[in-house]
Amino acid sequence: MASLRFCTLLMLLGIGLQNIQTEAKTRPEPSFHYDYSRIQETDQAWKCWKEGYRPPPATSNKVHESGNGTVEVIERILRFNQSSTVLFLFSSNSDNQNLRTAFSVERNKLVRLSLDNAGLERLELAFSGRENDCRLADLSVPRNRLRELPVGVERLTALRKFDFSYNLLESFSLDRLANAAGLKQLLLSHNRLESFLTTEQISFPSLYKLDLSNNRLRVLDSSYWTMPQLETFHVDNNRHLTTIGGWTRSRFPLVKGFDPAGTNNWNQTWLKSVQ
Ligand SMILES: *[C@@H]1O[C@H](CO)[C@@H](O)[C@H](O)[C@H]1NC(C)=O
Ligand SMILES: *[C@@H]1O[C@H](CO)[C@@H](O)[C@H](O)[C@H]1NC(C)=O
Ligand SMILES: *[C@@H]1O[C@H](CO)[C@@H](O)[C@H](O)[C@H]1NC(C)=O
Repeated sequence: MASLRFCTLLMLLGIGLQNIQTEAKTRPEPSFHYDYSRIQETDQAWKCWKEGYRPPPATSNKVHESGNGTVEVIERILRFNQSSTVLFLFSSNSDNQNLRTAFSVERNKLVRLSLDNAGLERLELAFSGRENDCRLADLSVPRNRLRELPVGVERLTALRKFDFSYNLLESFSLDRLANAAGLKQLLLSHNRLESFLTTEQISFPSLYKLDLSNNRLRVLDSSYWTMPQLETFHVDNNRHLTTIGGWTRSRFPLVKGFDPAGTNNWNQTWLKSVQ
């Protein structure tokens, strides 16, 4: 009797398992939209990126592809061979909450890397040894779920554009980009930044755009910043921000000023003194 019951139980379990298996087979795998461009350059004799660089048509070729694919397809696309790739721009218009990916950047290969809405949860710099990267000029990873900056980000010396907007950063140490003296755009809007800190004097002679809007900054101190070309400075939607330490019009002559009725909690006395 007991063994009969046991057998029935096994059968039920068996049927149950079978059901789950067929269900898994018939339910379509989630599919994600992708669109990417990739440029390969066969002549890799040059090393460091220079202003005005364009891949020479004679030694480069471009691939563009778009479609919908499973997680495996997206992962395969992101695992492209970086050896001779100088540009890789990926974007997706799918809801990527259920796509979890990682990407590892190799040293002195890519000039431009953009992974927009790629479900990124980890970004690494696979730099062995102690050498810096002098090629990567554009590192754009907006609309992902990155919680921190990659280890070794201070070794990216050629950066012109650094876009981590729409991620999950909680703090940002500007010191870590001190070696990227040619930086022009630093885009960090729509994160969860509670701090944006600098512990020493830092100079970005070419920085013209800094976006810290839609974060959680309560304090911000610009005293150590030297950014003479700064023109577009977004800091709106930091609802508890009352002042910006060290800010004067003469230090940031190209910035137009702040919206008194905006989405910060400006100390109006301070605001009048800097407009
Ligand atoms: C991808 O799927 C969407 C709907 O999910 C569809 O509208 C679109 O045409 C598909 N794109 C391609 C290239 O197959
Ligand atoms: C990547 O590309 C390089 C140069 O084109 C080639 O030598 C190498 O074998 C490729 N690696 C893989 C894993 O395909
Ligand atoms: C507002 O700013 C002024 C001038 O910087 C300062 O003296 C004052 O204490 C501040 N008010 C508040 C409520 O923090």
